[in-house]
Amino acid sequence: MYGSLKGKDYISTQDWSVDELELLLEKSAELKQMFKQGIPHRFLPDKTGFLIFFDKSTRTRNSFEAGLTQLGGHAHFVDSSTSQIAHGESPKDTGIILSSYGHGIMIRHDLVPGEGNAYMREIAEHADKPVINMQCDVDHPCQTLADLLTIREIFGKNLRGKKIAVSWAYAPSYAKPMSVPQGLIMLMTRFGMDVTLAHPPEYTLMENTMQAARDNAEKAGIKFEVVDDMDAAFENADIVYPKSWGIESLFHQPEEALEVSKKYTDWICDERRMGLANKDAIYMHCLPADRGNEVTDAVIDGPQSVVYQEAENRLHTCKAIMALTM
Ligand code: CP
Repeated sequence: MYGSLKGKDYISTQDWSVDELELLLEKSAELKQMFKQGIPHRFLPDKTGFLIFFDKSTRTRNSFEAGLTQLGGHAHFVDSSTSQIAHGESPKDTGIILSSYGHGIMIRHDLVPGEGNAYMREIAEHADKPVINMQCDVDHPCQTLADLLTIREIFGKNLRGKKIAVSWAYAPSYAKPMSVPQGLIMLMTRFGMDVTLAHPPEYTLMENTMQAARDNAEKAGIKFEVVDDMDAAFENADIVYPKSWGIESLFHQPEEALEVSKKYTDWICDERRMGLANKDAIYMHCLPADRGNEVTDAVIDGPQSVVYQEAENRLHTCKAIMALTM
C-alpha cells in the first residue's frame, strides 16, 4: 500500500483514510529507530522539495530541511516575501513551475483565516508533485501526526477510553493560528480518544472543522464535547493540550483581540490544574509556548511534560510524509 501514496497531497488528515495514516505512523516509527541507530535511510536520493513560508518557523522549517537531507535529498527554503509570490504571482504558475523543478512542494500559510488552505489547494490542483501542508489556517497535519505518534509512544496503540483535553490558553504575544486545535479535534476523534474542547465563548473554531470532528466521533463511537471551562476539561484527562489561538473575526484587529483575551488571563496551565487531570496525565504543546501565560515553568519543565519528545517527533513524522509521498 506504501506505493499508492506516491504523489498524494498531505493537506489535511481528513483527506487520508485511517489506514493511510497508520502507514505514516508506522513509517515514522521505523525512521525514528533508523535515525537513533545511525542507520542510513536515503529513501529520496537526489529529490528536491521546495519549502514556501509565509510565516516564521523553528520546528517545521528545520525538521523538513534536516529531514530531507537525511533522506538523501535537498530542501530549498522559499521566503514568500522575497519571491515573486510577493508581487502576486498566481498559485497556478508557482505550482506548475516549482513542480517542474523538483519532487514536492511544502507550504506554510497560516496567519489569515480563509487564505492558506485555499492557496495550497490551488497549488495542488496545478502541481504534478505532492503538496504538503506545513500549517495553514485550517489544519496543521504535520504537527498533529507527531502529536499522535507521541501519544501512542506513551499510552500504546489502543487509546479507547483515554481523554484528551484540547483547551484554549491565554497568550498576549500574537493571535496564534487556529489550525492546531482544529487539527487535533479532527485527528484525535478518529483514533479512539474521547475529545474535550474547551474555550471561552469568543474563541470558537471554524464550523467545518467542528462538523468534521463531530462526524468522526460519531463514526468512531467516541465522545466529542465542548465546554467553556478549563477546569472541567482537565478533570480526569489523560492528555492535556492547552494553547492559545486567535478569534477568527479579529485576526486583522490585533489590538481589539488582545483586549478580549485580557478577560481570560486565568486560562493558564498550572500545577493546580494539572492536579485535576489523571495522575499519569501528560502535558503537550506544539511550541513555541508563551511561558508564564499559557503555561507555568513548573508544568512545562515538570515530569508530566512531553513537549521535547513531541517536538522531536516532528522530524520523524515529516520524514515519513515525504518518504511515502514524494
Ligand atoms: N509547532 C510548530 O509548527 O513550530 P514552528 O512554528 O516553530 O514551526
